[in-house]
Amino acid sequence: MSLQKAATEVRENAYAPYSGFQVGAAVRGASGEIYVGCNVENVAYPEGTCAEAGAIAAMVAAGETQLTEAYVIAGSPTPVTPCGGCRQKLAEFASADAVVTMATTGGAEQSTTVGDLLPGVFSASHMDR
Ligand code: THU
Repeated sequence: MSLQKAATEVRENAYAPYSGFQVGAAVRGASGEIYVGCNVENVAYPEGTCAEAGAIAAMVAAGETQLTEAYVIAGSPTPVTPCGGCRQKLAEFASADAVVTMATTGGAEQSTTVGDLLPGVFSASHMDR
């Protein structure tokens, strides 16, 4: 299955009663396995959990800590871009050249990399003394 198909399908399960904005995400682990996530909101924290965070959590829960590619899709007018927190999460588990494809349900796609999404990323090396 393609990342595009996996992200598009899981988006149907998004729980977004507060924003009305459904997002689906899929990441490919270094093993080749695909992990998916959708956004899940709740009344106390209406922004909830992002689709990308859900896909990354599924990957880590399955025992993988490296992703090679990510795909995110929403019913937005232009390709949906990961929020700041998700950019840091992607950077934690991917190399800077890992491709992130952002898409709309209308068929538009735009690709970038984890490094370009988060220039100047804070990393463990900053804590070296
Ligand atoms: N959202 C995502 O799941 N991923 C993104 O990249 C952007 C935003 C979700 C969070 C919230 O449920 C809704 O979209 C509106 O912010």
